[in-house]
Amino acid sequence: MKIAVLGGTGLIGSQVVQDLKAAGHEAVPHSQSTGVDLLTGEGLSAALEGADVVVNVTNSPTFDEASLDFFRKTMDNLLAAAREQGVGHAVALSIVGVEQVPQLDYYRAKVLQEDLLKAGPVPYSIVRATQFFEFMDAVLSWSADEKTVRLPATPIQPIAAADVAATVAEVAAGRPLQGTLDVAGADVFTLDELGGITLAAHGDERTVVTDGTAGMFAAVQGDAIIAGPAARIAPTRYRDWLAA
Ligand SMILES: NC(=O)c1ccc[n+]([C@@H]2O[C@H](COP(=O)([O-])OP(=O)(O)OC[C@H]3O[C@@H](n4cnc5c(N)ncnc54)[C@H](OP(=O)(O)O)[C@@H]3O)[C@@H](O)[C@H]2O)c1
Repeated sequence: MKIAVLGGTGLIGSQVVQDLKAAGHEAVPHSQSTGVDLLTGEGLSAALEGADVVVNVTNSPTFDEASLDFFRKTMDNLLAAAREQGVGHAVALSIVGVEQVPQLDYYRAKVLQEDLLKAGPVPYSIVRATQFFEFMDAVLSWSADEKTVRLPATPIQPIAAADVAATVAEVAAGRPLQGTLDVAGADVFTLDELGGITLAAHGDERTVVTDGTAGMFAAVQGDAIIAGPAARIAPTRYRDWLAA
């Protein structure tokens, strides 16, 4: 199959392209750096020409209110071009529990992206993943100073980007789900606990201070971003990944 991967140069997208190629598909990465701008539509029709499937793993440059505009415009452009080019399956990557955290602009933007895809003219699949292992250093840096890292005790179930990419590639190569597949890591931590594990693995001597108001994940209530019983559990475990 010919599969256009928008955001195919990013963390997830580059691995989706690799996985699809390894499975024998013609996977083509597209992004601004290859001359395709999903926000303006520049280069998009040509990128989707002859594609059986389009995978959207682009990301907004910011997590603030502007992300709503990013995910609205990019999904509108993608659906219009996919319809015009007769693409038979559109796949997007979202976040487990995303509709349960409307306090966060970025999460509302991802819900909007999902809703546009579901209501659109192209058969679709949504993969929802939990937070990536690779994202944890950034999460720690948001509320850190020289001596401490302040983190809430929010339950979190992180996953390796490689496991997310493998799931997205598998879904892209299959029939449209007309629904959602959740995928998550095997272990649930609290974010402050996860911070301690991460700092120790890096030999970082800063102390984690539990702070229910610190950082973006302070807005998350209870188990809102933990996967439910129907989710697929990915093989890679956080401590093994850190050790490797
Ligand atoms: N971080 C997490 O824990 C997490 C959890 C669940 C789901 N997700 C979702 O996973 C998705 C992918 O995340 P990621 O970490 O792989 O992102 P990333 O590494 O930042 O990659 C983003 C990709 O999008 C491209 N891009 C950005 N703006 C574009 C535009 N206007 N037109 C075309 N391409 C554009 C980038 O390339 P150029 O800059 O060259 O355009 C890049 O290839 C996101 O949608 C995110 O919501 C993330």
